[in-house]
Amino acid sequence: MSILIRNGRIVTATDDYIADLYAEDETISLIGRDLKVKADREFDATGRLVIPGGVDPHVHLDLPVAPGVVSSDDFETGTRAAAFGGTTCVIDFPTQDRGGSMLDALATWHDKAAGRACIDYGFHMIVTDLPESRLPEMDRLVQDEGVSTFKLFTAYPDRLYVDDAVLYRAMRRAGQLGAMVMMHAENGIVIDEIIREALRNGHTGPGWHGRTRPVEMEAEGVYRSIAIARVAEAAVYIVHLSCAAALEEVRRARETGQNVYAETCPQYLFLDDSRYDAPDFEAAKWVMTPALRPVANQQALWHGLRLNHLQAIATDHCPFCFADQKHAGRDNFTKIPNGAPGIENRMSLVYNGGVVAGRIDVNRFVELTSTAAAKLFGLFPRKGTIAVGSDADLVIFDPERRETISVNNPLMHHMRVDYSAYEGMEVQGYPETVISRGRVLCHAGQWHGESGAGRFLKRAPLGAQRS
Ligand code: URP
Ligand code: ZN
Ligand code: ZN
Repeated sequence: MSILIRNGRIVTATDDYIADLYAEDETISLIGRDLKVKADREFDATGRLVIPGGVDPHVHLDLPVAPGVVSSDDFETGTRAAAFGGTTCVIDFPTQDRGGSMLDALATWHDKAAGRACIDYGFHMIVTDLPESRLPEMDRLVQDEGVSTFKLFTAYPDRLYVDDAVLYRAMRRAGQLGAMVMMHAENGIVIDEIIREALRNGHTGPGWHGRTRPVEMEAEGVYRSIAIARVAEAAVYIVHLSCAAALEEVRRARETGQNVYAETCPQYLFLDDSRYDAPDFEAAKWVMTPALRPVANQQALWHGLRLNHLQAIATDHCPFCFADQKHAGRDNFTKIPNGAPGIENRMSLVYNGGVVAGRIDVNRFVELTSTAAAKLFGLFPRKGTIAVGSDADLVIFDPERRETISVNNPLMHHMRVDYSAYEGMEVQGYPETVISRGRVLCHAGQWHGESGAGRFLKRAPLGAQRS
């Protein structure tokens, strides 16, 4: 199978030029002007951008969060929706059971993904406990299994929280292996105390999710994670950073030269805590952690993205249906499953709110949505760029087309969830054709992909690469 894309404006994190691109089998083999080649399939990309497929390094597909409660997109529906949104690679999170083996968790996640995923995928390992005897599992994961990143939580004391000793132990080993630790950094111990106080005072509605998670508790978690990583001599990546106070900790540490990286997510760039004042139970749609923040934080995050204090934009896609799943917390907000959908919306939202709004240029758009994650997570240059020899993961992106994000817009909503977190937002920029390893997945709103065609990607360790 070969593909020829003519006259596209090829944009990478560093380049911007008009050319033809020819891909044979799975990889890009020729880029140039007026290529004299024939292909099985040709596209005229005049007036369009040709960008590397998006890399979303933070998604939760088929994630169990409580007995009988599982995130509503599985690897088939979630990766299909990702593709419609211009993302051709995702990284999900196997979760170690407390007292269980990380290798077992990896096997479970391989079972969930294999035969279902429509795009390529990798895994980060969530560590929930780490006695000395389990440290060799980290070695196995990095050296043999292609899992070179570990996520730990200072949040959720009842489920995923680890104490500082475990944090240090994991970081120390990760540092020795050249692996990286990813941190969900909020002070869950204090937050749980604030939640108990709110419930005692009769505050049970969904808006109280946001009101019980102050920004100071995220900033403290970020500071502590960075401090422990420094002592442990490990690289650390802060996930879903949501506020100016936490960003300041990252900025300060990076300024000293420490290997600290961070992502933010579209929900923190485009939504704010006024959603928690929505009537009835509506606010449950935005129950996610960290919570949505006061609107002033958005400007600080954009500033951080421009200046590379933040390196990537991920979705933290973790959808739960409003009618069937979010309603579990009708009488008590702590029972609402945490998370929101977004895997399909990231590229258009960031293009519109970033490039069209004049906050970032088109190269930085590609870097934030694709290249930086590919580099940080050991996938570059196979993923994250357009170059001879790279996988032919490509998006022909219409920079002018406007669409409204809505659960009722069949072009914009393929996620298996009954609401959109961004309902009614109009965006400019639409992934018209999406190609994964030379196979056309989506074209003009139609699905041409195949469940199970996505491959597991073994990822190399960071190798102290700086971004
Ligand atoms: O609310 C969220 N973010 N749910 C997904 C799990 C996590 O903390 O990343
Ligand atoms: Zn998290
Ligand atoms: Zn997450």
